[in-house]
Amino acid sequence: MFNRAIPSKITAYFKFSDNSLMTNKTDNLYAATIDQQSFSFDGQVAEVFPDMIQRSVPGYDQILKNTAKFAARFVTANSHCYDLGCSLGASSLAMSAGIKADQVKIIGVDNSQAMLARCQHHIEAFKHSTEIELQCGDILDFPIENASMVVLNFTLQFIDQAERAELLDKIYKGMNPGAVLLLSEKICFEDAADNALMIDLHHQFKRENGYSELEISQKRSLLENVLVPDTLEQHTARLAKVGFSRSRCWFQQYNFVSIFAIK
Ligand SMILES: C[S@@+](CC[C@H](N)C(=O)[O-])C[C@H]1O[C@@H](n2cnc3c(N)ncnc32)[C@H](O)[C@@H]1O
Repeated sequence: MFNRAIPSKITAYFKFSDNSLMTNKTDNLYAATIDQQSFSFDGQVAEVFPDMIQRSVPGYDQILKNTAKFAARFVTANSHCYDLGCSLGASSLAMSAGIKADQVKIIGVDNSQAMLARCQHHIEAFKHSTEIELQCGDILDFPIENASMVVLNFTLQFIDQAERAELLDKIYKGMNPGAVLLLSEKICFEDAADNALMIDLHHQFKRENGYSELEISQKRSLLENVLVPDTLEQHTARLAKVGFSRSRCWFQQYNFVSIFAIK
């Protein structure tokens, strides 16, 4: 295995200068006026992704730290863990940091080649006692089997709303009894005033993290129709309908949540 320990702040692992793929480049993709039509997880985004997600998603660090804690409790020997929409592998490495069981394989899946190329370097650079295999593919088609833990951290929101139930049904069927699904998402609220307040608080969070009004508004326009949030109620109803015996929102900051669901 590899000999670089994961620092306590898991997302800090990108800060190495010995390999250009691992530098933590500042996200200033939208600092000047752009004529791009929509957002995609391309090479430019992959290059700045650690900085982008850290400065854009309230509670991202907390969710990663707790991903390790869920892994410690739920991952069983001789099983699989899935990181669906793995990006640069932060959730895979977090699971690996928590897993105590033997003979476990973590499978990270993403359909962005640019993300996976960088992810491979991150995975290779950090000590992990659990095997991590990366697969390029669409999570809608990817087989799930013998899973004791599945992580969908900020990925379901990019899947067509009409296909979300079918994806969760497939995940559920591939999970072992007692297994956990960790689902982290940006959400919206039925109540228009609550929704506006949460969006405003999120934008304040981004401003406090150094994003300008132009960056915030350009990113918002790019994500329109690409990142489509559900309400918390839609998520919990869908999880129950698919068959999960229980689910609970264990983390929330503004319009960002993380939910666990147990088979
Ligand atoms: C916001 S990022 C996820 C962040 C990551 N889970 C983490 O914790 O750092 C969403 C990822 O999902 C991937 N993605 C989106 N739709 C996908 C699909 N249908 N199949 C596979 N990957 C997908 C994107 O390429 C992107 O890397």
